[in-house]
Amino acid sequence: MHIPVLLHESIEGLAIKKGGVYVDCTTNRGGHSIEIAKLLGKDGTLVCIDLDQEALAEAKEKLRKLKNAPTLHFVHSNFRHIKSIIESLSISQVDGVIADLGLSSQELDESGRGFSFLRDEPLQMTFDAHPTDDMTTAYDIVNSWSESTIADILYGFADETYRGRIARAIVESRRAKPISTTKQLVDIIASVVPAAYRHRKTHFATKTFQALRMATNDELGSINELIDSLPSILEPHGRVCFITFHSTEDRIVKQGLRSHVDALKIISKKAIVPQEQELQQNPRARSAQLRIVEKI
Ligand SMILES: C[S@@+](CC[C@H](N)C(=O)[O-])C[C@H]1O[C@@H](n2cnc3c(N)ncnc32)[C@H](O)[C@@H]1O
Repeated sequence: MHIPVLLHESIEGLAIKKGGVYVDCTTNRGGHSIEIAKLLGKDGTLVCIDLDQEALAEAKEKLRKLKNAPTLHFVHSNFRHIKSIIESLSISQVDGVIADLGLSSQELDESGRGFSFLRDEPLQMTFDAHPTDDMTTAYDIVNSWSESTIADILYGFADETYRGRIARAIVESRRAKPISTTKQLVDIIASVVPAAYRHRKTHFATKTFQALRMATNDELGSINELIDSLPSILEPHGRVCFITFHSTEDRIVKQGLRSHVDALKIISKKAIVPQEQELQQNPRARSAQLRIVEKI
């Protein structure tokens, strides 16, 4: 089960107006959406976006059962298209937006899409459960991108110290046969990183998997497009909450929001982090950070 992260803090941060119009960019199975919907009441509107069709279908089932549910729209799409999504629903401005970035516990543990280095699964890593042929997968990256580009993403998206040797080992290994599973990839990384790196607390494949997932889904590109749409789609005093899970993601959100100082006021001067009680109930929340802004 996915336990919503920083739920109380983000709902409070959105300062929800009863009857208002809100967008959940990362609905998944509705952890945050359900709380937003309850506060909106039947005169409100909630647009629920996600790339994961199955998760969105479950959210739909749950949200439709709520008493006094707002008008609900479920959109299987990338949140980078938020402006055209709301326009297609004849909505011009919204009162609030939430983006709880990254992937859900189910996607990590049960999707079979290769997000976890602890399982042996095909190297897919797309948020979209059924990618079309023109979508990039992690398989495409490790089997066809150049050694220098692979090293660049390992550095840029995850600051991997051993990016050079890992990228070289990937390219050498794929000459013999394609790298098609997570286990093959983990074994390749294990064969070139130092023993001390293999035995430290954080798994030695964490950064490579993070970087590949981010590249596969063009995560930073999507976040930047979403942020650039905010000034034009928010009502004055409209609120936005971003929940991030690692430093690269948080840096991009922080810098992106700051680049719109003329339109977006920072509400959370410092990122809000989970309380001890939440961490005890949900250790996966440990790296979460919440940033809140308001349209001027
Ligand atoms: C951490 S989960 C959200 C969990 C949800 N807030 C809850 O508490 O139940 C992130 C979700 O965002 C989706 N996602 C990630 N990037 C996306 C993007 N660019 N566009 C749309 N959905 C995206 C993933 O498929 C996943 O379902």
